[in-house]
Amino acid sequence: MSQILVSKRMFKSYRMGQSRLDVLKGIDFAMKPGEFVAIIGASGSGKSTFLHILGALDKPDSGEVYFENQRLDRFRGGQLNHFRNKMVGFVFQFYHLLDELNVLENAVLPAMAATGTFGWIKQKKAVTQRAKELLERMGLTQRLRHKPYQLSGGERQRVAIVRALINQPTLLLADEPTGNLDSETGRGILMALEELNRDGQTIVMVTHDERIATRAHRIVRLVDGIIVENG
Ligand SMILES: Nc1ncnc2c1ncn2[C@@H]1O[C@H](COP(=O)(O)OP(=O)(O)OP(=O)(O)O)[C@@H](O)[C@H]1O
Ligand SMILES: [Mg+2]
Repeated sequence: MSQILVSKRMFKSYRMGQSRLDVLKGIDFAMKPGEFVAIIGASGSGKSTFLHILGALDKPDSGEVYFENQRLDRFRGGQLNHFRNKMVGFVFQFYHLLDELNVLENAVLPAMAATGTFGWIKQKKAVTQRAKELLERMGLTQRLRHKPYQLSGGERQRVAIVRALINQPTLLLADEPTGNLDSETGRGILMALEELNRDGQTIVMVTHDERIATRAHRIVRLVDGIIVENG
């Protein structure tokens, strides 16, 4: 089977005034569709930087990044928008939900953004139905009209997962999705991700927690700017 994501000799540094901080120093990485990969590494090792490049939120300085055999690092304009809107979903440590919108409205937001006003009028019913089904799977049926500040941390993260999935992305990227939760609540989020993966969702999850990482198929460790695989 061909790879869904590949990075070859990928470099990324940040320039701070006169000095340069080399964060990623030649990352070679590949994953297949349907895999669940955990990226682990010390704070500041470049996990978020790497994930952002895989999600086209940032660009490498050099090297190659492929998504479904296409040069992701060269995506521009419409192709980049299409990738960001339709192909990839992001889950963040601090949820990034909009407090003025309720659960259902937060969940459908990326679909509104992806379709534009006229497309949205046509698709609203089907998307809302899909959001309700996903929210039900996440145990949030009784919370549809709640605002984010009326939810627990675990509930907020489950809404954020639904939002990330609403456009049926090929790839789900999660940056410390359990990092802000107690261990019991974190386990619930992890089980939700595992269930999605069993249904075929490809997932890359960043974590600094070894125990959480062992639940993935494969652990990739970032050390001194390169990747070390360990089972
Ligand atoms: N925009 C930026 N400008 C300058 N330096 C940055 C920038 N973003 C990240 N860095 C630096 O790059 C390094 C890697 O950052 P990154 O956020 O990828 O680490 P991380 O592994 O995700 O850490 P954590 O586990 O704490 O989230 C850090 O030393 C950070 O200070
Ligand atoms: Mg990080």
